[in-house]
Amino acid sequence: MKTNELKLLYEGKAKKIYEKSSDEVIIYFKDDVTAFNGIKKDSIIGKGKINKLITSFFFKMIEEKGIPTHFISDVDDNSFVAKKVKIIPLEVIIRNYTAGSFCKRYGIEKGIKIQKPIVEYSLKDDDLGDPMICKNVILSLKQVEEKILNRLEYYSLKINNILSSFLEEKNIILVDYKLEFGIYDNKVYLADEISPDTCRFWDKDTMESLDKDVYREDKGNLIDKYSEFLRRINI
Ligand code: TMP
Ligand code: ASP
Repeated sequence: MKTNELKLLYEGKAKKIYEKSSDEVIIYFKDDVTAFNGIKKDSIIGKGKINKLITSFFFKMIEEKGIPTHFISDVDDNSFVAKKVKIIPLEVIIRNYTAGSFCKRYGIEKGIKIQKPIVEYSLKDDDLGDPMICKNVILSLKQVEEKILNRLEYYSLKINNILSSFLEEKNIILVDYKLEFGIYDNKVYLADEISPDTCRFWDKDTMESLDKDVYREDKGNLIDKYSEFLRRINI
């Protein structure tokens, strides 16, 4: 993909968004990896390609189950064409097992199964460090209409069932993950990515991480673990 001929609309920590047409963009997955709001950063050759592969695989699966996604078509190893949605400035986090900031915030042990999945929201704002925000505050700040917020929650929990049951067959636990959504023509679309950068995946037998915690916590080689995840889901 000759991205240098396209207009760069946005560059984030792990992706670049190029304008393809008035209603389509090209999403390019970079090899850059960051943690702790960019305090720790590196470039790891091959990461972008793996995350693009996993994202397009999951987005196709989710679309087939009736949830609209921004994914349109694959372009090459590192990029795909997507609908030019207007991103809702919220990160939706779904938790099935205790881990990460949840354990830190509430002083809870890691790895406890949560009986009913928890949906949390963070304001998508790097300068503020993506603070957690509750539904009432979202509504009172008029970030999102109630109807849309309900749809985000409905889709997030439906996606949880789709991904958890698929991964369970591969002997992988979907611990928690982050989703982003966008609006196009007044309709909600799943956007951004679903990859080992944005999810926690644990081997069911060993509880070993097959995700970015390997990098966050210096627990091994990121590409080895991401490739192991790819191998386990057969893509
Ligand atoms: P947390 O436990 O740090 O709050 O993370 C919950 C999930 O969200 C975890 O699967 C990693 C993902 N995540 C992101 O995708 N981006 C982020 O900036 C953060 C903090 C977490
Ligand atoms: N995505 C965030 C960062 O780039 C945090 C994280 O994933 O741990 O710093």
